[in-house]
Amino acid sequence: MQGQNQVILRVLRGERVASPPIWLMRQAGRYLPEYRATRAAAGSFLDLCYAPDLATEVTLQPIRRFGFDAAIIFSDILVIPQALGRKLWFEEGEGPRLEPLTGPADIAALAPAGVEPTLQPVYQAIRQTRAALPAETALIGFCGAPFTLACYMIEGGGSRDFLKVKQWAYGHPDSFRRLIDTLVQACIDHLDLQVQAGCDAVQIFDSWAGILPEEQLFRWSVQPMQAIARGLKARHADVPVIAFPRGVGPAALMYRRLPEFAALSIDTTIGAHWAAQELQPHVAVQGNLDPAMLIAGGETMVHEVKRILGKLAGGRHVFNLGHGILPQTPPDNVARLVEIVRDWTSR
Ligand code: CP3
Repeated sequence: MQGQNQVILRVLRGERVASPPIWLMRQAGRYLPEYRATRAAAGSFLDLCYAPDLATEVTLQPIRRFGFDAAIIFSDILVIPQALGRKLWFEEGEGPRLEPLTGPADIAALAPAGVEPTLQPVYQAIRQTRAALPAETALIGFCGAPFTLACYMIEGGGSRDFLKVKQWAYGHPDSFRRLIDTLVQACIDHLDLQVQAGCDAVQIFDSWAGILPEEQLFRWSVQPMQAIARGLKARHADVPVIAFPRGVGPAALMYRRLPEFAALSIDTTIGAHWAAQELQPHVAVQGNLDPAMLIAGGETMVHEVKRILGKLAGGRHVFNLGHGILPQTPPDNVARLVEIVRDWTSR
């Protein structure tokens, strides 16, 4: 079976290993000169996402340079809203922009044909990447969680207070539920097609879960992510699902015992010691170096990496950052990080 000898797959399936596998969120990106060159050749970020040869190339770049245990397919969470018919563009230096949803009619009009026709270039890039990767390197597929996608779709981009999305969720929960349910279905289809194309595991990014009060978290983050994982597992029983509910703090306890999740990815608001005690007995833990530590480098970084390894690497652990790698990161610090993690051996 594909993935049998991939260290990360062994950890996600419940094994403990001596030194943890490592990959980094946003490992393909602007901190790499070779990425900047390919992106310039593509024209724009979205052109890069939809050009299978170039998306394959940037997915492989960090693997060639650092030999990570997993590649993550180069794409974006916002390709789902786009495939459902919403206009998407990126303003240089300002991040994503979407034509905002304005009411129930916009939700009802989301593309009935689903994501498959539009996202063919993503599946093509996955087939090519899987064929080019060493057998021992896992390929991770992904999607945004419905709540995070709804945030971008309703606000029309990032936001300081997310007041529009909260007003919709609190004031019109039935209509918000219809949006979330539509996104759950689109995410299941997108992950299913990514696994069919060759992904070995998938991650669901709920980047904005942390703006919800704990009382609202279950219905808008835990349940939809669980529904996606269940839907995917009905089609691919063995594929491991990593959940990343960013910013939820101790409410991470709500996600720890769900059999649908092979790992919880934790951000830096969660202490490694607490995660080892409260989460790791139930689920593998992925994380959680502060991306800013990777910019700082030096002995401070080495010390912090070893502290995290000391707390987590004795259990089921996938080394990663607490959030995506930042463009200012010196690639040499990434090489150093990989070396430290590879040299680590837990008794
Ligand atoms: O290497 C990888 O991790 C795979 C590719 C990947 C990207 N985005 C590429 C990207 C993944 C997994 C994502 C997920 C994503 N996209 C998330 C969830 C993770 C998170 O960060 O919380 C979110 C919220 C998005 C939406 C998005 N896309 C934003 C907010 C931005 C702008 C931020 C920025 O750094 O400019 C993007 C653009 C984006 N997605 C870039 C990359 C490499 C930068 C684009 C560029 O200028 O080249």
